[in-house]
Formats: sequence, C-alpha cells, structure tokens
Amino acid sequence: MPDKVQRVKGVNDILPGEAKQWQALEGVVKNVMTRFAFGEIRPPIFEKTELFARGVGEDTDIVSKEMYSFTDMGQSSLTLRPELTAGVVRSYIQNNLQQLSPVQKLWYEGPMFRQERPQKGRYRQFWQFGAEAIGSPNPEQDAEMIALFYAILSELGITESVTLKINSVGDSESRATYRSTLQEYLRPHLSALSETSQRRFETNPLRILDSKAPIDRELVKDAPKIRDCLNAASDAHYKQVLRMLESMEIPYVQDDLLVRGLDYYTHTIFEFTSDALGAQDAICGGGRYNDLVKELGGGDVPAIGWASGIERLLLVVEALKPHVAGSELDLFLIVEDDALRIPALQLIHQWRGAGLSCDMDTLRRSLKSQMREANRQGSKFVAILGAEAFKNGKVLLKDFDSGEQEAVTFNNVVTRIQQDV
Ligand code: HAM
Repeated sequence: MPDKVQRVKGVNDILPGEAKQWQALEGVVKNVMTRFAFGEIRPPIFEKTELFARGVGEDTDIVSKEMYSFTDMGQSSLTLRPELTAGVVRSYIQNNLQQLSPVQKLWYEGPMFRQERPQKGRYRQFWQFGAEAIGSPNPEQDAEMIALFYAILSELGITESVTLKINSVGDSESRATYRSTLQEYLRPHLSALSETSQRRFETNPLRILDSKAPIDRELVKDAPKIRDCLNAASDAHYKQVLRMLESMEIPYVQDDLLVRGLDYYTHTIFEFTSDALGAQDAICGGGRYNDLVKELGGGDVPAIGWASGIERLLLVVEALKPHVAGSELDLFLIVEDDALRIPALQLIHQWRGAGLSCDMDTLRRSLKSQMREANRQGSKFVAILGAEAFKNGKVLLKDFDSGEQEAVTFNNVVTRIQQDV
C-alpha cells in the first residue's frame, strides 16, 4: 500500500461541518462591511518579497524568520502574503485608487502564511478578514474603524468576553523622544535583559515592551510610558479617539505596554483580546499607518486598518455558544424503482432550480437505506417517487417533523415545502 500523504504541519482542512460556521461568520462580515460602506478588494496571494521587506519591516519577526519565500522562473523572489496591509497599499498605489475618491474604504478576506511555531490558535496558513481606510488623518476615521470591528463582535453576540486594548505610538517625533527615554531607562539593566531584547535595544527598543520573557516583563513594568512622551498633536489625536469611542459607548482599556509586531504603525494602535482563548488571545489587531503609502512609493496619504484571525474568532464563538448543527436540506428524493432514475433526475433538477435544497441517492440503494440516508442528513421532507404515483404525476411527500404525508403533484412540491420552511 502506498503511504498516505499527510497535510503540511500547521495548516488546516476546513471540512463541510465547520464550513457552515465559516459561512455564517462571512455572512456577518460582508453585511457589516456593506453597512459601513466598505468595498471588497481581492489582491493576489503572492507578491514580490521586497513589498513585505519594505512594508512590514526587515527587523520584524514576520520578515526576518516567518515568510514563505521562493524564486520563480523569472528569478524574482516572491512571498506568500503574511498579511494584507502591504498588498492593499501596493494595489491602492498601482491602481490610482485615490482618483476614485479621497478616502478609500476597503475590506478583504483570505488566507495568510507565516512560518510560526504551530499551537492552538496559531497556524502557518490562517485566514484573516480585515479593513483599511486610506486617506483620512482624522480621529473619527480611527473611531469608525474600531466601531466597525466592534459591530461585527456585537452581531456575533460576543462583545462581553472581548477586551479592546488601545495605545498610541504617536508620530515619528514622539517615537524618537520615547525611544531615547526608554533606552535611558533600560540602559543600566541592559545585561539583565533577555537575549532578544538586548538585540532589540538598538534596533527596535519599543518591542521590548511586549517581550514575553519574565525578566524583561519585570523590568518594563515601571518603564516610562509612551503616552507621556507624545507631542501636542499626537496627544490631541489620541485623546480625541478615546473621546469618540466613549461617545459610541465602546469600552476600552489603555494598555501602556501595547506595541505591535509590524513596523508601519503611527499614532493609534489597538488589539481586541478574548479571555476564552489561551496564549494566542488576540482576535484582531491594527492601527494607524500614516507613512506606509509614502514609503511604498505613493503620495503622502494617511491610513488606518485592522485584521482579524478567523480561526481564532471562531474558537471564541464556539467557546461561548457551542454550535448546533442545523440541517439545511429541504428535501430528500427517494426513488422506489431504478427504472425511474431519469424522471427522478429531471424532478430534482427542476426543484433545485426553483430554490429548494434537495438531495438524492446515486448508489441505487434499497428503499430502506435511502430513508436512512434522508434521516442522517436531517432532511425536513422526503418525497417518495413510486411507479404508481409517477403515472399520476405525483410523489408521496412526507414531513419528517410532523410525520404527516400526502400525495402531491410534481408542480406543487415547491409551493408545499416553501409554505413550511
Ligand atoms: P497581526 O496582528 O499580525 O496584524 O494579525 C492580525 C490578526 O491575525 C491577529 O490578531 C490574529 O487574530 C490573526 N493571526 C495572526 N497570526 C496568526 C497565526 N499565525 N495563526 C492564526 N491567526 C493569526 C496584521 O496582520 C496587520 N496587517 C493588521 C492591520 C491591518 N494593521 C493595519 N491594517
């Protein structure tokens, strides 16, 4: 026997049972995005490696060790997208989207790829949906973006178990001030810091704030806060965002240690976390990125966005409201006599065309097995096509819930079922 081929580590098969939950979530997302006037964008799954190196940042974990990169026949280095903000911005610039309207509100959904150590809620292929608003520098845009994700959580009925953590990293001037303030505070303890944090001390000291190493955590507990280093404009922007969230009754917690693992952020940054998850508790992360469009060769255009991990979000939904798998099948057609296979196919074709969800047996099984199959699928009705009834243009329609049955003409089957479901 040949060996079975196994799936790659850290990726998932989404099977039909689970796919129903995915579809339900996708329905909510599409609906809320439309309500907030966001248009869908579908950029490619791979891009030039350079896009992520420049966009996400050479020193980030994503770019330095997690990318799936390969060389194509033209010898260019390409990368399976680890995230979609850089791709959306590339597309915005390349397609001159700013000409369509000064603020572009875009949303997306699709698989992302990162070579991380797999664990519950952390995969190598995972799905995100996300949104980017490109064009407005104002705090109401930050507030609208956060309200957008909050509306999705409300629709899913899970706002209670989720916390919005928010912080500001200010503009580049504020960050430069904070960087040296933090370095000054940490310098006397440099040799006590973890190896990674010692390396980041020069390259990206802000990332030391979210180190998981206990020794680093102890040291940063009393570190100076970035919000005390914001210049007047950055401070005013941040305070207005908070005020606007309050006006919409969106609860938040200010988290002075919140920094994000991608280099493009300026001003507002945020994460939604859930206590229904373990170590990988972030279900959404995002923030403002006012310099990215310019850095990728576009105009001086401010932007803000977020992305949410679908697998993680579904773990929360599942933990809070265990899924009851309801059947969507309206009708199962049972064929009494194999000589009636062709009219049976015609009938089911016609009913499906009229909008019913129908199924039938294609293994030519016994009547009893067909009945068992209809039951297993949880069909609401069965229609039995027998030789006698067929002559009269009828099937025997049985309602599985009430047990009632009646002979119904072919043409009345759809109306009869639609009355009921
Ligand atoms: P991120 O924080 O890297 O941000 O990812 C956003 C979300 O994707 C996370 O909060 C988590 O729910 C999910 N996620 C990330 N990595 C994994 C993984 N390995 N397995 C499962 N889920 C994962 C971004 O990607 C930014 N592009 C967000 C953004 C948009 N910022 C501005 N605009």
